[in-house]
Amino acid sequence: MTFVPIDQLAEGMMLDRDVYLYDCSTCKIAMLRSGQVLTQAYINKLGELQVLGAYIHSDEKSELITPVPSPIKPELEQEAITNIQRVFEMFDKGAQHINIHCINQTMAISKKLVNALKMNQDMKLSIDNLKMYDDYTYNHSFGVSVLSIAIGLSMNLKMTELYDLGFCALLHDIGKMAVPIEIISKPARLTDEEFEIVKQHPEKGAEFFMQHSLANNRICAGVLTHHEKFNGTGYPSGLSGDQIPLFGRIISVADVYDALTSVRPYRNPSTPAEAIEYIMGASGSAFDVSVVEAFLKKVSPYPIGSCVKLSNGEIAIVVEQNDFHPLRPVVRPFSDPEKTMDLYREREYQNIVIDDVCNVTAGELLAN
Ligand SMILES: [Fe+2]
Repeated sequence: MTFVPIDQLAEGMMLDRDVYLYDCSTCKIAMLRSGQVLTQAYINKLGELQVLGAYIHSDEKSELITPVPSPIKPELEQEAITNIQRVFEMFDKGAQHINIHCINQTMAISKKLVNALKMNQDMKLSIDNLKMYDDYTYNHSFGVSVLSIAIGLSMNLKMTELYDLGFCALLHDIGKMAVPIEIISKPARLTDEEFEIVKQHPEKGAEFFMQHSLANNRICAGVLTHHEKFNGTGYPSGLSGDQIPLFGRIISVADVYDALTSVRPYRNPSTPAEAIEYIMGASGSAFDVSVVEAFLKKVSPYPIGSCVKLSNGEIAIVVEQNDFHPLRPVVRPFSDPEKTMDLYREREYQNIVIDDVCNVTAGELLAN
C-alpha cells in the first residue's frame, strides 16, 4: 500500500483503503471503497473536496509516488505467525522436539519487527491491520508483540531491550499449550475452576524457557508476569508497582488492548476507542501510568481524515491528533470548514465527545 498525494493520483489507480468525502456545501458524505479504480471524475472530486491524497494498491505505484510504507509487511506478519505456531507446537511435543533454530528465528523476527517499527516511529498503529489471521492465539501473540514494541519505542528502550521485548511478547502465552483446548476455546465465560487452570499459563511458559535455557532472565520474567496488575491484584504472584518487571507491565497493556479489540466466541469486540477508554480508566490501578502514557502516543482510533459523529450532533473530520489523548483529536465540522475544534485543549469543546465513526456508504455525492 502506498500513500499518493492528490496531485499525483492518476486514472486507473486502485484504492487500498476507504476514502471519505465530505461536501461542506451540501453537508453530504460519501465514501469511495477500497478496491475502487479511480477515474478522472473521482480524482477531480477528491481535489474539489480538498482530500490530501489516498492509499493506493502498491502494484499501481509509479516513479512520482512518495511511498509511505506500512510498518509491518504482510510477509513478515505471515512469517511471525508461522513461527509462533511452530514454537507453541514444540512446547506441546516435549523436550526432545526443541528446535533451537526455531527459537533463534523468533528472535530474528522480533528484530525485524523492531527495525520496521523504529523506521516508522511517527506512524500510529492501524490496529485493523493486525487482525488478518483466524487463529486467535497466534494472531493475538503477533498483535501483542507489535504493540509492545511500539510502547517500548515510545519509552525509549534500548535496541537490545526492544528485541527481547518483541520476542517475549511473541511467545508470552506459550504456557497456554498446557491448558486443555476445551478450556482455551470454550465459547462462554470460564468457571472458577477452569480459570484457576488458565491462571497457571504464565508459570508454565516461564518454566519452559528456563528449563531448556531458551531465553534470558528478563524474557522469562516478562512471560511470568504479564498478568500481574500494577495494584497487586493480578496473578500468579500478586506483585505490585515496580515489583513487576518492565516487560510484564508493558505486555499487560498490549495484551488487554489486543484482547478487547479481538473477536471472541463469547462477546463482540470492543472498538479501539472503547478499549483505549478502558486502558485509560485502569491507568494507575491495573496498569502502570508511564506505560499507559507511552501506549496512548502509539494508538489512533481516529486517524487523520476519519469522519466522526460528535455528541452535539455535528459530523466532523479529524485533522490533527493529541498525543496524550487519542480519543480527543482536533476536528473540523463540515458545517463550518473554517472552524477547528480542539476537543482536548479548548474549554468550550471539552463537553463534546466523539460518539461514533461515520460509516456512511451513500454514493450520491459522486453520482451528482
Ligand atoms: Fe496470557
